[in-house]
Amino acid sequence: MTAEQLISFARGAPSLDIVDVAGLKAAAQRAFEADPAGITAYGTSVGYLPLREWIAQKHGVAPEQVLVTNGSLQADAFLFNELVGPGDAVVVERPTYDRTLLNLRNLGGEVHQVTLQPDGLDTDELRKLLESGVRPKLAHVIPNYQNPAGVTLALPKRRALLELAAEFGFTIFEDDPYADVRFRGEALPSMLSMDERGVVVHASSFTKTICPGVRVGYLVGPAATIASIAKKATNLYISPGMVAQAIVHQFCVSGDIERSIATVSRALGERASVLARSLREHIPGVRFTEPDGGYFLWVELPEDVHVDAVLPAAAERGVAVVKGSDFLLEGGEHALRLAYSAVTVDQIDEGVRRLAAAIAAVRER
Ligand SMILES: Cc1ncc(COP(=O)(O)O)c(C=O)c1O
Repeated sequence: MTAEQLISFARGAPSLDIVDVAGLKAAAQRAFEADPAGITAYGTSVGYLPLREWIAQKHGVAPEQVLVTNGSLQADAFLFNELVGPGDAVVVERPTYDRTLLNLRNLGGEVHQVTLQPDGLDTDELRKLLESGVRPKLAHVIPNYQNPAGVTLALPKRRALLELAAEFGFTIFEDDPYADVRFRGEALPSMLSMDERGVVVHASSFTKTICPGVRVGYLVGPAATIASIAKKATNLYISPGMVAQAIVHQFCVSGDIERSIATVSRALGERASVLARSLREHIPGVRFTEPDGGYFLWVELPEDVHVDAVLPAAAERGVAVVKGSDFLLEGGEHALRLAYSAVTVDQIDEGVRRLAAAIAAVRER
């Protein structure tokens, strides 16, 4: 590896070696053979019907509760547009996915960030916020291997959140693209599956388990909410991309998806543990929670190290990271998000060494 080669811990995307290109090519062939009329025509805004059905079965819901979108970011945007207007209160995690913050703020939402603990959202803090009179339209939660912090919402907290949503009348938006990328431990039930009162809307995606380029994600929720969003989607784009959704459908029904999930989970589990080891070895004083799945590790740097200084110093040395402050309304000046999805194992130690050199240079100034 040359010194000039950029090592990127910045992007939450998979490296090509863990994308099943051959499997996708074969799925495309099967899709065109099985349903040429269906996939070359306009579809309807709810998505490619066989894939909608497959997703409905996966989650144990009726197909009318599913809308298949162009990636889950579009699912997020649809739901935010449906529920949030200027001045409406919304709850998000602190820290949270940067595009969530951006989209909610662009809609004029009054964003309240609630502390994220090593076992997920601080539900006691949320209760206090609600008891203080704040009445959110929705609480956005990334329950598994959170972006950016890598942590998972514990089962008792899932129950507590469902209770709070029922008591205070808000929607839980369960934004869950990482659930299947698990290295350790048992899968926890989704809040969607635990919901008896229709307070949860769930989003997920094939970005993290197949690849981002297919741009296929989805929303699952009460049929009336889905129907209302589908109507707006029709006016927006008639239908999402049928070809991509049909390829994903073939990839799923053939069982290739299970193999792909196993490949991604195995590779990312190894990368996460190599990253954790390298951080401990090369950067004294860093703190982090080692993730059990997902794409990200959140690193707290020593208090005298400001990320605004680290970023350019890291870039000079050929390593890219994302500032913690991008995921927060305020704070995060001493934190970084490291994605281990796009780096191969042999790049990680060198990347951390470069980052350590950047941090050392900043501290010497
Ligand atoms: C929590 C969360 N939601 C949504 C998305 C959007 O993913 P996509 O639109 O590729 O499905 C991401 C991507 O990183 C994410 O981390």
